[in-house]
Amino acid sequence: MIARAPRDNAFGDRLPLYRERVNQRLARAFSSGDEIPGRLRAAMEYSVLGPGKRVRPLLAYASGELGGIDAEAIDAIAASVEFTHAYSLIHDDLPSMDDDDLRRGLPTTHRAFDEATAVLAGDALQALAFETLSTDEKLATRPAAAQLKIVGWLARAIGPAGMVGGQALDIEAEGKSVSETALENIHRRKTGALIRASIMMPSELGDFSDEARVKLDAFACDIGLVFQIRDDLLEVEEDTATLGKNAGSDRANDKSTYPSVLGIIGARNRADALYERATGTLESLGPGAEGLLWVSDFILRRSC
Ligand code: IPE
Ligand code: IPE
Ligand code: MG
Ligand code: MG
Repeated sequence: MIARAPRDNAFGDRLPLYRERVNQRLARAFSSGDEIPGRLRAAMEYSVLGPGKRVRPLLAYASGELGGIDAEAIDAIAASVEFTHAYSLIHDDLPSMDDDDLRRGLPTTHRAFDEATAVLAGDALQALAFETLSTDEKLATRPAAAQLKIVGWLARAIGPAGMVGGQALDIEAEGKSVSETALENIHRRKTGALIRASIMMPSELGDFSDEARVKLDAFACDIGLVFQIRDDLLEVEEDTATLGKNAGSDRANDKSTYPSVLGIIGARNRADALYERATGTLESLGPGAEGLLWVSDFILRRSC
């Protein structure tokens, strides 16, 4: 990994506030949910309110900073991508998918509850993501066209051409020898697409030139891929206690991963090169991009 001192910028100071903001917005969805059956509600809360890093919400807030958009207008976007992410993790861990028992240092949702409840909690969280976007009072003050584009970003990112398609290809690639191109396609879809959307949804509320939007999107696509290459590497570099998830999962499932296709050094080099390209693109967007640069560093350096 590139040995560089952490970026000295103030986003790190604002980060606890952003995490708190999104945590409150996530919790709000359960504050008046008497109509949610108790066991389902408990599984949803367990899966969402646990100790995740909140990387996708942080990217949304940082992207909002770049566009000069109030954090209040980003809260619903931040919550929607985290609800979606939590749903994707529940389903990803199911016995029929990666069959994992540990997530965020705790039993996976189907282990803590049962499989049917886990499937339904994931389904419900996906719906909640779209409900959050379409009923938020701050977003409602923005032009309807922008709101629709925001909803469209999320829908495309997690649909058959995005995350769900990537998950299907990931399962198909188990036990097979795939090319780097095929693996990159899987990773861009299964993980990259939601990260891209987390960055691009706020941009619909900002006043970006076409050129700046294209650059932001190029950055968003690259950093999404870096995230999953790093995730693959962490499984071979770290232990289960550090990761809070099973360090032997990819190997047990005979997954196609960057280390399995390119080797550890090859995977590190690929992540570094993409990171350099991503942050180079971002730097050309000016000082407002400091938050996105900070989160990019975190994505490359993280140890869990
Ligand atoms: C893990 O994502 C799953 C992937 C898409 C690789 P995170 O590493 O962001 O998970 P949490 O939310 O912090 O647990
Ligand atoms: C997770 O990918 C992708 C989604 C949840 C959509 P992985 O299966 O590689 O991630 P972990 O290692 O279980 O977190
Ligand atoms: Mg998986
Ligand atoms: Mg998994």
